[in-house]
Amino acid sequence: MGAKIHAPVAGGVDFGGTLASAYAANLHSRIASRVLWRVGQGGYRNEADLYDLARAVAWEQEFSTDQTLRVDVTAHRSPLRSLQFATLRIKDGIVDRARERSGARPSIERSQPDVQVLVHLKEQSAQLYIDLSGEGLFKRGWRAEKGEAPLKENLAAALLMLSGWTPQKPLLDPFCGSGTILIEAASMATGRAPGLQRHFAFEKLRGFDRAAWSLMRQKARDSVDDRAMMQIVGRDISTHVIELAIANARRAGLEMALQNRSLVFEAGDARTGEPIADHGMIVTNPPYGEQSSPKSASVESMMADVAAQLKRKFPGWQAWLLSADRSLPQQMRLRESSKTVLFNGPLECRLFRFDMVAGSMRRQSAKERNARAQKLGKQSTPE
Ligand SMILES: C[S@@+](CC[C@H](N)C(=O)[O-])C[C@H]1O[C@@H](n2cnc3c(N)ncnc32)[C@H](O)[C@@H]1O
Repeated sequence: MGAKIHAPVAGGVDFGGTLASAYAANLHSRIASRVLWRVGQGGYRNEADLYDLARAVAWEQEFSTDQTLRVDVTAHRSPLRSLQFATLRIKDGIVDRARERSGARPSIERSQPDVQVLVHLKEQSAQLYIDLSGEGLFKRGWRAEKGEAPLKENLAAALLMLSGWTPQKPLLDPFCGSGTILIEAASMATGRAPGLQRHFAFEKLRGFDRAAWSLMRQKARDSVDDRAMMQIVGRDISTHVIELAIANARRAGLEMALQNRSLVFEAGDARTGEPIADHGMIVTNPPYGEQSSPKSASVESMMADVAAQLKRKFPGWQAWLLSADRSLPQQMRLRESSKTVLFNGPLECRLFRFDMVAGSMRRQSAKERNARAQKLGKQSTPE
């Protein structure tokens, strides 16, 4: 994207580059939540310092007083007592500067502002940003239909990237819901940039280079390959959500893949579903207890049945499961080869990797027999 990465920071990446690389990050990044442009920074001790910092930025170069504005402040270890007051003073700094220079001021709008300013306060320093994305980048512009607990699109893409899936590998999501993981996968396989179907906040800024942006979008459109080879299958027990997944895939521009059945959504029960190839990958987000209340024993016993089916029918497959339930490996009586902590919104989850090996059913059941025997105080017999 032409960006130079400076450093990873909490929850993000600090990078530099031209505005074009910021456009490209918005258009092409599958995992970013938003792209922010740092327009000012400095030390502060109180709200008056924040006012001065805000007033020192040449906002008039970036937007006009006819445009609506919103200011948000986040803080980590800030000594200030009221973030609301800090926000007010920053807004005053921006507005006073505008009034002084042009006699007019931008009006503040909370719900759909033209320009969004974000300020992040650390213990002693503040950073001022203009949001270049607008709506969160997980919004690709195709989702109209939500199933139960859909994943954000950028988290779905992150699961695929962490799993090492590539379009050559058959991919199955046996709990596909509204299809998020597989729609991301098919978009990757067809080279469809995630931001092709939406607008961005940078389009409303003064320095917006419409010609460069049109060219970049056109290039991205031209590099879509609707006939790319892939074998991607989604199943869900609910026929209703399967319909939603198909409708979502259509809106995401994947009609051709649906037609030539390289992307398939079908109703099916994960406890009895058959593999779609000899080897392949499962990347999925099964239901977990926290999502249904009370924490349900039926989900646990279902996952035990799913595990039995995987052991029986899926040797050679790699299964990646995202769950908030830490006891998932125990429920499935499988040992994970790796686990990665990820946040699904506020919910701490783990991405477990299980390698299904031939004969694991037999080994597992021997283990289970031993465990049961030990529980009963008997000597276990090695097998
Ligand atoms: C957490 S949701 C998956 C959400 C999905 N990742 C998305 O983004 O929309 C879990 C899904 O599992 C489905 N499900 C529950 N039990 C199932 C079973 N035995 N077999 C297949 N699907 C099942 C539910 O209908 C639900 O859509």
